Amino acid sequence: MIIREFEFTLKDGRKALIRSPKEEDIQGMLDYLYKSAEETDFILRYPEECSRYTVEGEKELFERMNSSSNEAMLVCIVDGKVAGNCQITWNNRIKTRHRASVAIALLKDYWNQGIGTRLFQELIRIAEENENILQMELEFIEGNTRARALYEKMGFRITGVGVNAVRLKDGTLLNEYHMIKEIKR
Ligand SMILES: CC(C)(COP(=O)(O)OP(=O)(O)OC[C@H]1O[C@@H](n2cnc3c(N)ncnc32)[C@H](O)[C@@H]1OP(=O)(O)O)[C@@H](O)C(=O)NCCC(=O)NCCS
Repeated sequence: MIIREFEFTLKDGRKALIRSPKEEDIQGMLDYLYKSAEETDFILRYPEECSRYTVEGEKELFERMNSSSNEAMLVCIVDGKVAGNCQITWNNRIKTRHRASVAIALLKDYWNQGIGTRLFQELIRIAEENENILQMELEFIEGNTRARALYEKMGFRITGVGVNAVRLKDGTLLNEYHMIKEIKR
């Protein structure tokens, strides 16, 4: 789905734009995918695993997200660059259509500026406007205190743990925590 775009001001005074992805964002998105994988272990890809992302693949992804009635991607643009993005997706199967999955990641230059909060407000609005959705679901990796703080602030709570769900290259095993936020109807 396409969202209505809007601007807001970051904590450091820069202007940010949130909108659905456009073709002009493809290179910025590819750069973001690689750089974010370099900057944090709290997302699931390593930089060398980003070669599977291509211009054509991103184009198809943007088109699918923008035309779907049960998926949305939101990008945040600062100074003309892709600062990060988030997604919400749910399916139409009767037994599981009440559950929407969400995910978010930003480049390090833009952490702690309020973008995550603003993106989550938008994701929650989308969930609330789709009457089938009764809960939003996400996961975060053990140690990601910033993500956890954001999610708890937005009304999510931990409901479970995937023990040793993530294994880093050096062999470190990390738990993955599952969170949900119920949508009041
Ligand atoms: C996690 C992430 C999405 C959060 O987005 P963000 O824009 O940095 O978040 P915000 O600035 O809106 O809010 C972060 C909140 O956490 C708080 N916070 C920051 N660091 C913290 C820490 N180490 N411990 C506890 N709280 C912390 C901030 O004070 C802020 O709360 P406030 O608005 O009440 O002051 C972003 O930092 C990011 O992309 N990180 C790397 C990728 C990642 O971890 N993605 C999530 C995978 S589950």
